[in-house]
Amino acid sequence: MPELCPSWARPIGSRSARADTRSSLKEGRDLMGGSFCVQGIEPHQRDTFRAMVEALRRAAWRLRRWYAQRRRYRGSLREVRRAFPGLPVTPGVVSEEEKALEVFYRRYVGSVSPAHMTASWEVCLFLHRLVRLESLRRVSDIGSGFSSFILRSAVAGLSPPGFVHSVENDPEWKERTAQFLDSDASGRGALMGIERFLADPQAVDLDLIFHDLGGLDKRVSLFPVVLSRLRPGGVLVADDVHKPQVRSGLLRALRPGDEVVDLFANTHDAFGRHSLAVRVRSSVRAR
Ligand SMILES: C[S@@+](CC[C@H](N)C(=O)[O-])C[C@H]1O[C@@H](n2cnc3c(N)ncnc32)[C@H](O)[C@@H]1O
Repeated sequence: MPELCPSWARPIGSRSARADTRSSLKEGRDLMGGSFCVQGIEPHQRDTFRAMVEALRRAAWRLRRWYAQRRRYRGSLREVRRAFPGLPVTPGVVSEEEKALEVFYRRYVGSVSPAHMTASWEVCLFLHRLVRLESLRRVSDIGSGFSSFILRSAVAGLSPPGFVHSVENDPEWKERTAQFLDSDASGRGALMGIERFLADPQAVDLDLIFHDLGGLDKRVSLFPVVLSRLRPGGVLVADDVHKPQVRSGLLRALRPGDEVVDLFANTHDAFGRHSLAVRVRSSVRAR
């Protein structure tokens, strides 16, 4: 009989079918670690078969990741609604003021610092909305940049307006932030190094701190002292908690009664970054 049919359709026991089965058994083990075997794959079909298996694996992985993210998103949304009732989801309905702020954000990441080094637009929007929702007047960002700008804009819209303590350790970035704030920001605030911030008698009993300092070791070591700078009921927003070092550092620094809120739904961004919030219940001072 002329060989018109594919190898898997050949009669079992025929010479070519036996030879193919031997090679495909090996192929099955190579590809799937012995979990199954495939009969009758021609050598020239192996690449196609490999590509198909690989594509299926990738599709299954993406599906699992999508499903896990969806569950995480829903859980986080519930937490945010419980902890910050009335806070809009991100981005949700964007106000005219927020649209104007986004234009500044695009300009900042286009001309001052790239998006991956800047707080995400999602977390900036969250901070702005939280300040307005809870009328938070005494706020701080540790790790300056666009976050300093967004917080100054947010407190400027309160009546009476608030004040922002922005912290920057790097002299070059301090200069860049200062220039950007001078040219564009409304609202009152001060830009200082971490030592001055820690020594500043005004920088205590704060309503909100956004902690995004460069240098992860330094950032993690500051969690206890940063938490102690908040008034009872004040909120710490810790960025980049997708990094295990940051997340575990923050969780280690918590005191009894501190409430953790997963901000994944409101703050996750295109780089996979997101934030956690801590609502402080006690006013224990760290050394
Ligand atoms: C994660 S960034 C802080 C971003 C800031 N919160 C913002 O919203 O723009 C941490 C630190 O990295 C430094 N930094 C910011 N942009 C940078 C850049 N493009 N290259 C190098 N360092 C940068 C600054 O010292 C900054 O405080």
